[in-house]
Amino acid sequence: MASPPKNVGILAMEIYFPPTCVKQEALEVHDGASKGKYTIGLGQDSMAFCTEVEDIISMSLTAVTSLLEKYNVDPKQIGRLEVGSETVLDKSKSIKTFLMQVFEEHGNTDIEGVDSTNACYGGTAALFNCVNWVESSSWDGRYGLVVCTDSAVYAEGPARPTGGAATIAMLVGPDAPITFESKLRGSHMAHAYDFYKPNLASEYPVVDGKLSQTCYLMAVDSCYNLLCTKYEKSEGKQFSVNDADYVVFHSPYNKLVQKSFARLMYNDFLRSASSIDEDAKEKLSPFSNLSINESYQSRDLEKVSQQIAKPLYDKKVQPTTLLPKQIGNTYTASLYSAFASLIHNEHSELAGKRALMFSYGSGLTATMFSLHFNEGQHPFRLSNIASVMNVAKKLKSRHEFPPEKFVETLKLMEHRYGAKEYVTSKDTSLLVPGTYYLTEVDSMYRRFYAKKPVYDSNIPHQNGSVANGH
Ligand code: ACO
Repeated sequence: MASPPKNVGILAMEIYFPPTCVKQEALEVHDGASKGKYTIGLGQDSMAFCTEVEDIISMSLTAVTSLLEKYNVDPKQIGRLEVGSETVLDKSKSIKTFLMQVFEEHGNTDIEGVDSTNACYGGTAALFNCVNWVESSSWDGRYGLVVCTDSAVYAEGPARPTGGAATIAMLVGPDAPITFESKLRGSHMAHAYDFYKPNLASEYPVVDGKLSQTCYLMAVDSCYNLLCTKYEKSEGKQFSVNDADYVVFHSPYNKLVQKSFARLMYNDFLRSASSIDEDAKEKLSPFSNLSINESYQSRDLEKVSQQIAKPLYDKKVQPTTLLPKQIGNTYTASLYSAFASLIHNEHSELAGKRALMFSYGSGLTATMFSLHFNEGQHPFRLSNIASVMNVAKKLKSRHEFPPEKFVETLKLMEHRYGAKEYVTSKDTSLLVPGTYYLTEVDSMYRRFYAKKPVYDSNIPHQNGSVANGH
């Protein structure tokens, strides 16, 4: 009997985000918000968005084909494909089935998995499903592939600057450079109406912004305390933020990430953990008797704990913030775009280190889990993952749209949401070669995509023949 797979985890990653973005500074002016509200108040720099030629399916096609090509993975080697998304384009047909076009072309239709949906958490559910499959007796030796894809758009109003768009693709298998510490995990799941999408005629969510912030922080507390308890039980010693080299958060906007990390420090203070020195202890002692609800309301506690947390935030969290600040909240892809930022910034430093990951989906579902890094084996080395993702180049080559054009695009998308019988402009001038784009939705609501040609004789299958070739 073959021995069970070891070190199951993330072997490879690719990220795609639209080449179109709007600057938060310009959006503040356009929206009549006070100067600094979006950039300092929310902590955001710019926001990616899909134009009328891109959507979650085209972005996923681009990310998946790019991952397979760049890591030289034969599409026949994929045995499970799981998609996480909360962007609803069809209430029955999964996004996964659209992606099957890539594999059908290569004669592979033997691929398990469908879509997972619960707000921003679906990507984590998809990832756990793939890891569990590789670790299970059903595993047939092939790779799992996880796709997190969302276009986050909000109605006009205070939530609009917290949108974004991206797709992350992750290859899952044994002997990975990024592995799961499976026992080190805590979940918090409950019923809440903080952010939800009951209106199926609209792409926009219903949001109780303040409640969503509190729900998020409550879930951070609950997951962290559970994870600490489990660690203490299995290792016989206390866990504190000092035991995590990095902390990676689902990032609706950066300010909430700053507050969440400060919350971990406050939890460490309440647990008398080693990360809290004498000076911090003294500063936090006025807050030791607050009820849990009072602690969420206290602006003074928020200020003091953020100030205490700052040096550790700069070390453990700041390297994860590049993409979330630049592309915005990408829902299911948000946590993994923060993780991609960490690999981009620190890939040469990561071997032997631990990252705590916090995944949150409104409604609500949340899990904190732990990942461990090693250098990996070619082509699945951390340095190669960083160079394949090529985050700096992708960010640098973006096109800034004025806010008026961004708003105009959202208006057109509102009109087209759930619509049939239209053709897009097919304008691919801003897309890089190899990018998929939407060409048409026909009279039966069927969606058709094409690929912008890659004129590189070294890359096979580049002629845009996949994806219904319309
Ligand atoms: N300069 C600097 N800071 C400013 C300025 C300014 N000119 N103006 C306001 N601010 C600060 C505020 O003090 C506040 O900071 P604080 O959080 O430390 O108090 C911050 O900017 C935001 O200002 P608010 O008035 O609180 O913002 P508003 O209520 O209008 O909207 C919100 C913020 C609720 C986050 C909204 O964008 C939203 O609903 N977003 C979607 C929901 C969301 O992302 N929830 C998070 C978890 S759920 C999820 O992931 C979808």
